[in-house]
Amino acid sequence: MSTVLHDEIVVDLGDRSYPVFVGSDMVADVELMIPDDVGKIAIVTQQNIKILPKLARPFQIFNIDDGEQAKSLATVAELCSGFARMGMNRKDLVLAIGGGIVSDTAGFAAASFHRGLRYGIIATTLLAQVDAAIGGKTGVNIAEGKNLIGAFWQPSFVLCDLAALGSLPQRELQCGRGEMAKYAFLGAEGLDRMPLHAQVSACVRIKANFVESDEREGDRRALLNYGHTLAHVVEAVGFDDSRVDLKHGEAVAIGLIFAARLAKRLGRIDQARVDYHYRVIESYGLPTKLPIRVDPDRLIELMFKDKKSFGTLTFVLDSDSGVELVRDIEVDPVKEELVEFNS
Ligand code: GLY
Repeated sequence: MSTVLHDEIVVDLGDRSYPVFVGSDMVADVELMIPDDVGKIAIVTQQNIKILPKLARPFQIFNIDDGEQAKSLATVAELCSGFARMGMNRKDLVLAIGGGIVSDTAGFAAASFHRGLRYGIIATTLLAQVDAAIGGKTGVNIAEGKNLIGAFWQPSFVLCDLAALGSLPQRELQCGRGEMAKYAFLGAEGLDRMPLHAQVSACVRIKANFVESDEREGDRRALLNYGHTLAHVVEAVGFDDSRVDLKHGEAVAIGLIFAARLAKRLGRIDQARVDYHYRVIESYGLPTKLPIRVDPDRLIELMFKDKKSFGTLTFVLDSDSGVELVRDIEVDPVKEELVEFNS
């Protein structure tokens, strides 16, 4: 690729392996990433994303709406109709340019159209760069829940262009920092003291490692959900209560603190490790507690319903040997910790 410094991290999955580039001003070079045999390119993006690479091959642009409601089967159907009208076939490529909503939806359309087209991602948000663009989980929401329909479909390449972050609203950046902070407890010690470029690369390396060892989320990859048990239920509360107006990354930050406190209550870690969680989250300017008191019984009820909990209280919890998936946790310590955390 061009002149600018970049890191290349390979997600090593045999014949589904792909490179993730982290750097600045790489968009102009995207043609170099596109396999020679690709004929046409369908760009899936959003109106407000003003990134359009120079492409030497025929292409067409499909703008999808903003917001989670755009991550729908209706959008996938519209995209696939558009791909059909432009005569896309299995040799062609879908290029997603945007955040997680774009890459999840475009990736699922790519996985579905003609039973699978190649796709590449230019990730334009911090959240996408450290999480959503890597790993091949694609999908859309239905009324019954988020991401309930989808496919594991790995991209052919990912560009994490830090220049794209310059135009992101502060709150969006903040959202990415919540997911980023998570990696500080998954092996990236000292993450918060690195320059941004090194932080993104470190997060991508860790995510790649989890994906390589457990592509289809049998067990180990679930550790990437650290902080997400409370985060998911707090987000669910926020759907009905505007006082709990938290972005995903902010909810994850609060969830990480809660998980650390619960781990201490269960005798898994000491106070120094809890303090480390507070230090990292605070260094990213993220919240460490819920914005209002929420009824602990309501939170526990929602935790039991979470699709990743399989009907038991399940948390990813820290320990002396790192984070682990812990199922069948008793209600009492969770409730006691929620009461203290909420007060
Ligand atoms: N697309 C996000 C993931 O695979 O984890």
